[in-house]
Amino acid sequence: MQAMQFEVDGPLGWADASEPVAGTGEVVVEVVAAAVNRADLLQRSGKYPPPAGESEVLGLECSGTIVALGAGVADGVEGWAVGDQVCALLAGGGYAERVAVPATQLLPVPEGVSLADAAALPEAVCTVWSAIRDLPEPEEGELALVHGGSGGMGTMAIQLLRALGWRVAATASARHRELCASLGAEIVIEYRAEDFVDVVKGATEGRGAGFVLDVIGASYLDRNLEALALDGAMTVIAVQGGSKAEVDLRRLMQRRVTMRAMTLRARPRTGGRGSKAEVVRQVRETVWPLIAAGAVRPVIGARVPLVEAERAHELMGSPEAPGGKLLLVR
Ligand SMILES: NC(=O)c1ccc[n+]([C@@H]2O[C@H](COP(=O)([O-])OP(=O)(O)OC[C@H]3O[C@@H](n4cnc5c(N)ncnc54)[C@H](OP(=O)(O)O)[C@@H]3O)[C@@H](O)[C@H]2O)c1
Repeated sequence: MQAMQFEVDGPLGWADASEPVAGTGEVVVEVVAAAVNRADLLQRSGKYPPPAGESEVLGLECSGTIVALGAGVADGVEGWAVGDQVCALLAGGGYAERVAVPATQLLPVPEGVSLADAAALPEAVCTVWSAIRDLPEPEEGELALVHGGSGGMGTMAIQLLRALGWRVAATASARHRELCASLGAEIVIEYRAEDFVDVVKGATEGRGAGFVLDVIGASYLDRNLEALALDGAMTVIAVQGGSKAEVDLRRLMQRRVTMRAMTLRARPRTGGRGSKAEVVRQVRETVWPLIAAGAVRPVIGARVPLVEAERAHELMGSPEAPGGKLLLVR
């Protein structure tokens, strides 16, 4: 089979690769589409290697058709059969003709979503769900602040938080204002021109946001804490603005702040709370019905042929990056 190959900092090339084999508890999926994640760009530059034992090929999510079942998945034991159309959360391997996936990381293609577009769901849904699943129900009119509202994660976070009853404010570039608003962000903050703390305080009679989803990290930490309401919670899922910052613990105590930080890729496949299997199961129970009901949808900014993944990476790294996810279609 063929897959996208690369040397660190070198170009991407579609070339022969070893055929994936379905191990125990795995299936092989014939890939119809994969989606680009920022982590793919980091992996190419040698800064984000795959977890031990996982595929070296790029691609953290895909959709396609099951073509082989490994031991333990036969005869629909896990609820899957050859010919099923699925999307999958991967630790790598999506930029390829076929990929081996643990059956516990498969999701059915949700009602109302095409097979190709479903490839844009697993990484964003599982990441955002993991970041918000422990939040209490929002109080009447409680505001959540989503940073990077136009990105792959942000477009999913706006929709999910709205569906769970939050009012949403999102930071984004001016050109992505409409996109964020169309997904349900009541307030869109142009982060280069406006101070998000002022806007959030102004929208909440000075109380602040009950929740902040952060993709910036160190350079936003101080202002994120300023923007949080008493008893507010914050989850950091990326550190685009640095990973080291000083925090006054007294301030956290006084504001009764809950701070979390998380990654998805490094989690174990199985093994209880926090494993990928558990997150995927929860997502299927909680988010998949919201997609079927039309409250949440994949947001695709551009579709690019998989063999032209290089072009999609250039687009993601450019100031013209469209909002939402970049889909690689075979
Ligand atoms: N923890 C995890 O497991 C996990 C999982 C998936 C992704 N991530 C990380 O989460 C981050 C976001 O992922 P993504 O897929 O959404 O990436 P993406 O699609 O490239 O979006 C990044 C977004 O960041 C926004 N942005 C840039 N600078 C900003 C600033 N100063 N303030 C507010 N927003 C700003 C951009 O908005 P504009 O274009 O509108 O300017 C863009 O929409 C990435 O760093 C990714 O690696 C983490």
